[in-house]
Amino acid sequence: ARAQDLSGRHVIVSAGGTREPLDPVRFIGNRSSGKQGLAIARAAAARGARVTLVAAHLDAEVGAEASASLGGDVVRAETAEELAAEMRERALSADVVVMAAAVADYRPATVSEAKIKKDDSGDALTLVLERTPDILAGLAAGRSDGQVVVGFAAETAPDREALLELGRTKMARKGADLLALNVVGWTAGFGSDDNAVVVIDRSGTPVGEAAGTKEAVAHALLDAVVPLLP
Ligand code: PMT
Repeated sequence: ARAQDLSGRHVIVSAGGTREPLDPVRFIGNRSSGKQGLAIARAAAARGARVTLVAAHLDAEVGAEASASLGGDVVRAETAEELAAEMRERALSADVVVMAAAVADYRPATVSEAKIKKDDSGDALTLVLERTPDILAGLAAGRSDGQVVVGFAAETAPDREALLELGRTKMARKGADLLALNVVGWTAGFGSDDNAVVVIDRSGTPVGEAAGTKEAVAHALLDAVVPLLP
């Protein structure tokens, strides 16, 4: 049995990919399946935490597994805007907040009420995008005393040194307590069953490392969280 080192704690985890609408039938999205976020939620529950999963788009089987294992503690959020609102509200009562969702950095500046027609644009269509709110930076800036705020950094880095460098730059912008750095690509990170992370603290120092199933990665991440809790 797992150590119940999160017993009595409330852990909120975001998972999956946001979808930013262009018109009633189209969106800009990404390939996040939700597997890593769900694995963190389940690992925290196995360690005794009360868990809330805030789910953006999840692959169908991941969504089914989330409902089966977490039941009513799954909240839906489609867009970056909706995810920001859910996380902000739910973070108020949380001891640990983990942003594993892949959030769009940009969304269409206008959402067409009617389906966009190719007749209106000819052979090329230009989309104007605007920035979405940085949810993790907002949660970190507004964290309560003793609350631990954890983010991810998804990078297409060629090696560990480059990954650490990119992760440290991202940490400086986000202000989280911990950042799990993972290499992503056409076949890595997004959608896969396995993952590999280096966990850094606020000073950019590696405090944990894991490669294996997303469950193993989840437990390694929580191992780095527990010592930070008051
Ligand atoms: O879902 P899976 O298929 O299992 O894949 C897992 C994963 C690769 C998606 C996951 O491990 C991961 O890396 N999630 C974060 C993806 C991401 O958006 O990374 P980023 O480097 O773009 O963002 C850095 C951090 O800021 C993340 O914690 C992200 O949630 C957060 N963010 C990003 C943009 C934004 N507008 N608001 C945010 O809060």
